[in-house]
Amino acid sequence: MTDLADRRDAETEVYQPAEDSHLLADAAIADLQAHPPSLALEVGTGSGYVAQRVADETGARVLGSDLNPHACAQTRERGVEAVRADLLEPFRSGVFEAVLFNAPYLPTDPDDERDDWMEVALSGGEDGREVIEPFLGSVGRVLAPEGAVYLLVSSLTGVDEVVELAAAEGFSAVALRDESFPFETLTVLKLVR
Ligand SMILES: C[S@@+](CC[C@H](N)C(=O)[O-])C[C@H]1O[C@@H](n2cnc3c(N)ncnc32)[C@H](O)[C@@H]1O
Repeated sequence: MTDLADRRDAETEVYQPAEDSHLLADAAIADLQAHPPSLALEVGTGSGYVAQRVADETGARVLGSDLNPHACAQTRERGVEAVRADLLEPFRSGVFEAVLFNAPYLPTDPDDERDDWMEVALSGGEDGREVIEPFLGSVGRVLAPEGAVYLLVSSLTGVDEVVELAAAEGFSAVALRDESFPFETLTVLKLVR
C-alpha cells in the first residue's frame, strides 16, 4: 500500500475532530489550567486532537490510547504518544491525574451495526452506554488518588443514567459545560472520588 493510500485510510477510518471533541478539550483544559496534571490519558483518542490540545495548553504529558490502530498511527503523526488498547486494560494502577474520554455514545439498533472503525467510534450499543459502562467500572483503578475523569456524554446517552453508573463506582459528578444542538445536548462531566 502506498503512503497516499495509508493517508486516505486514516482519514476515512478515524473519527475527525467535531463539536464534541472541541467541547471536551475546552472544558478539560479550562478546569486543568489551575493545577495541570503531570501525566494524563485520553482514552479513545481518535485523531489525537484532544490529547494534543491538553498537552500544548496545560504542559502535561498526555498519552493517547485507542482500539483503532489507524487512530494510534494518526495520533503519533501529531507527535503525541499513543498506545493501542481496549479501554484501560494495559495501564498501570494509580498513575494518571486526569483521564479524558469522548466515548462512542450513539444508541444503535443491533440490526444497523456495521463492522467498521467508524461504527466503533460512534456506537454505544442499544442504550448508548455499552462502552461508557465498562470504562466507568475500570477507570478508578488507573486514576491517581486526587485524579479526575472528564467524560463527554450526550442527552441521547442519558446523562442522569451515566451519573448514576458513576456514583455506583464511587464517583461524584459535576457538569462543567453543556452545548445544545438540534438533536442532542452534549455535556462534559467531571468525575472525582
Ligand atoms: C467519538 S470518537 C472520539 C475521538 C476523539 N477523542 C475526538 O474527540 O475527536 C471515540 C473513539 O473511541 C475509540 N474507542 C471505541 N471503543 C474503544 C475501546 N473499547 N477502547 C479504546 N478506544 C475505543 C474509537 O476508536 C474512537 O476513536
